Amino acid sequence: MGLPQNSLDEQQLQAGSQANGESNADCVPQGSDLKWWSKETIAIVTGSNKGLGYGIAKELAKQGVTVVLTARNEKRGLDAQKNLFNEGLTNVLFHQLDISHSESISKFSTWLNEKYGGLDILVNNAAILHVDTIRDYQAAKECLEINYFGTKRMIEAMLPLLKASPTGARIVNVSSEYGRLQWLTDESLKEHCSTLSTEDQIDALAQRFLKDVKEVTDGRMEKRGWAIEYPYYQVSKLCLNAYTRYLAAHLMDLSQGYKVFVNCLCPGIIQTDMTLQEEKLLPGGVAPDTMDEGVDTPVWLALHPIGGPTGLFFYKRKVIEF
Ligand SMILES: NC(=O)c1ccc[n+]([C@@H]2O[C@H](COP(=O)([O-])OP(=O)(O)OC[C@H]3O[C@@H](n4cnc5c(N)ncnc54)[C@H](OP(=O)(O)O)[C@@H]3O)[C@@H](O)[C@H]2O)c1
Repeated sequence: MGLPQNSLDEQQLQAGSQANGESNADCVPQGSDLKWWSKETIAIVTGSNKGLGYGIAKELAKQGVTVVLTARNEKRGLDAQKNLFNEGLTNVLFHQLDISHSESISKFSTWLNEKYGGLDILVNNAAILHVDTIRDYQAAKECLEINYFGTKRMIEAMLPLLKASPTGARIVNVSSEYGRLQWLTDESLKEHCSTLSTEDQIDALAQRFLKDVKEVTDGRMEKRGWAIEYPYYQVSKLCLNAYTRYLAAHLMDLSQGYKVFVNCLCPGIIQTDMTLQEEKLLPGGVAPDTMDEGVDTPVWLALHPIGGPTGLFFYKRKVIEF
């Protein structure tokens, strides 16, 4: 996988320029002097002891960034760091981080601040998927707690630590195609979700969903307009996507002089422990996309040339609809 080099298509340029208020030209990579990062650039990747997170951490390290590999389980994290070290990637550190625990996030923030004084790139990758179709309030709550609320808490903790630099800090939210509005089964719910523009509205949607999980006794969430397949995961990623849009707009208003670029993406369908849970996710036992393909877009967004897009949803480096 190479350095970010392709250009944004016309649709992206329009969407990107609307979102970040800059000219199209600012979004277009300008040649071989695109490398704005160095070993002083600090990238955090959540849930990077395995799967896509591990792949993203490895690729960022290969590109010369200093990477903090994080994992909720210390042993799994240290083993992953050791594997990368054995591959010659000595620019990878490890720190424990469970994004569903405020205390863990807080300890991590303190450590990061003391060690590096902040960060440049945050890749929010950690997530879970429950494949059970039976109603399970605890499973739904856990899924939203990690994939949406945990990621949001992590972002909130990192925002004050993002380094003010002319290149702009980057927040990359690893989401999923499943988070798209199209999976909702009720038009008015779709319409409502497409207009979520404040944190309170997004949180209220998550709470409304959890209330429905409690009330819908046969597990058929589509009766209330939610997705038929993997509704817990679907709503968690829908909320993450909405939060990405909200945050991009919010940071644009706040930032005076320095920038934070916030985007989300679907990595494709890649064979990991997450997809190996269910045959249906890997038709014929083969994932349609390779790990390299899955890692490509998050790394491209993390290292995007200065003036990149913000507030958009990507798949294979192209803008897709929320
Ligand atoms: N694979 C795909 O085809 C696919 C498709 C679309 C989107 N995605 C997204 O890609 C991302 C990575 O998925 P993956 O396929 O690589 O899954 P995975 O192999 O199951 O890895 C998930 C990672 O998240 C970590 N994690 C879970 N809960 C956490 C928590 N509370 N705090 C910190 N870390 C936590 C896991 O840690 P443990 O090892 O401790 O469990 C693991 O490191 C996810 O956001 C997923 O939704 C994947």
